[in-house]
Amino acid sequence: MQDYQLIEKLAHQNRERIPERAVHAKGWGAQGKFTVTHDITKYTCAKVFRPGTTTEVLARWSTVAGEMGAADTERDVRGFSLKFYTPDGNWDLVGNNTPIFFVRDAYKFPDFIRTQKRHPKTNMRSPEAMFDFWAAQPESVHQVTILMSDRGIPVNPMHMNGYGSHTFSFWNEAGERFWVKFHFKTQQGHKYYTNKEAEEVIGRTREATQEDLYNAIDTGNFPKWTMFVQIMPEADADKQDFNPFDLTKVWPHGAFPLIEVGELEMNRNPDNYFQMVENAAYSPSNVVPGIGYSPDKMLQARVFSYADAHRYRLGTHYEMLPANAPKAANVNHYHKDGPMRFFTNDFGNPDAYYEPNQYGGPVADPSVKEPPLRIDGDADRYHQDHVDADYVQPRALYTEVMDQAERDRLHSNMAAAMAPCSDAVKERWYAVLGRVHPDYEAGVRAAAKSPKEENALPVDSDTPVEAAE
Ligand code: HEM
Repeated sequence: MQDYQLIEKLAHQNRERIPERAVHAKGWGAQGKFTVTHDITKYTCAKVFRPGTTTEVLARWSTVAGEMGAADTERDVRGFSLKFYTPDGNWDLVGNNTPIFFVRDAYKFPDFIRTQKRHPKTNMRSPEAMFDFWAAQPESVHQVTILMSDRGIPVNPMHMNGYGSHTFSFWNEAGERFWVKFHFKTQQGHKYYTNKEAEEVIGRTREATQEDLYNAIDTGNFPKWTMFVQIMPEADADKQDFNPFDLTKVWPHGAFPLIEVGELEMNRNPDNYFQMVENAAYSPSNVVPGIGYSPDKMLQARVFSYADAHRYRLGTHYEMLPANAPKAANVNHYHKDGPMRFFTNDFGNPDAYYEPNQYGGPVADPSVKEPPLRIDGDADRYHQDHVDADYVQPRALYTEVMDQAERDRLHSNMAAAMAPCSDAVKERWYAVLGRVHPDYEAGVRAAAKSPKEENALPVDSDTPVEAAE
């Protein structure tokens, strides 16, 4: 027992793990940069969008449901997280590879995630729970359609798009607010696996994505994305025939065209995965002057949820870890003691440890104050009262965007996913599909009766998920 080095070593081994993320536990990361190529300063005063500006970025992509050791190539939504180390502090865009989501009410999120994770008794994934939940939440059919489409199993993040998904806001120097959606379009072309191909890949390696991404960057094939925004003037939100703050809906590209902004390039593998990727703490609460939130209820809840998760998973002062510490000199706080207090913020004078103080410690800068986010107290202001509201966009996706071959693959993928479900749950889900389009319901029913051998996807399949992509 007096061999202290041994005890120290064993004790450290016992503490080498931290809790994995409650969702998006399996992930892959890279470092890189974002460069502004087009001027959008009439919409936002955020310094990260000043023409010609280049900003360091830390990216993490992930699957949602799998645990940290899960196979990479599963049919699942992919997370698309970006941390921009801007001159005003960190801006995090914690998005997905889909422009929409399964639910629009944060209260449903923990239940939704429960259906994606393991059953409490069998300890297995439960398609019965997934489709039971979706059938009771028809707004999910839009996202489920994308998940079961050709875009359900990305080959790796380099060959998929990223979306901020929510409606956020911008404000400009004059204090005018605009609603905004963020899009990152892959420059590598889209590539996705069929179920059969994914099974073969998983049989060969469970780390296919990590291998692809690491090797591409290691050999200088840096993946790039073009960033676009869609912009809606603040007053126009009331004029739409859909709720622009509903996360289960896209904004039509015809009415809100994509405006090019810049280029994202990932060009460096982190020297230490744990330090930069496992320790990365992304949060929608990390915004900078010029970028803000919106009345989207899901977004509002996420502003709380992530920082809370980080305090639990990483510790009190997680914001000072190398992955998370802002690189901007003007980010100051009066946080004090507690676990992981390895930073100094004495501001050159030990008496300046509270605020306001007479010793010249940092003070709030009113010049970067956010203009008021108008709230009118009418919770149902953007309520969609027409019963078809949740089916309009998935119908357009099914009938206008997909061709017959894509629809056939969608039918097969969905039939395969729901094969283990009870007849009662299947019938409820068929009823939802029938509301989208009778051919959708009929197609999945037929595929369930006579499963087809899957054809490989076109090598560079570019199945759009939005009408005008
Ligand atoms: C109210 C709804 C939601 C809640 C409460 C929620 C909560 C969480 C939590 C607690 C984590 C784990 C964070 C960590 O431990 O580091 C997480 C991760 C993540 N979430 Fe959400 N989430 C919600 C909706 C969404 C939506 C709509 C998106 C995409 C548009 C999204 C994208 C992500 C991504 C990409 C990650 C992984 C972040 C990383 O790479 O570290 N989430 N979410």
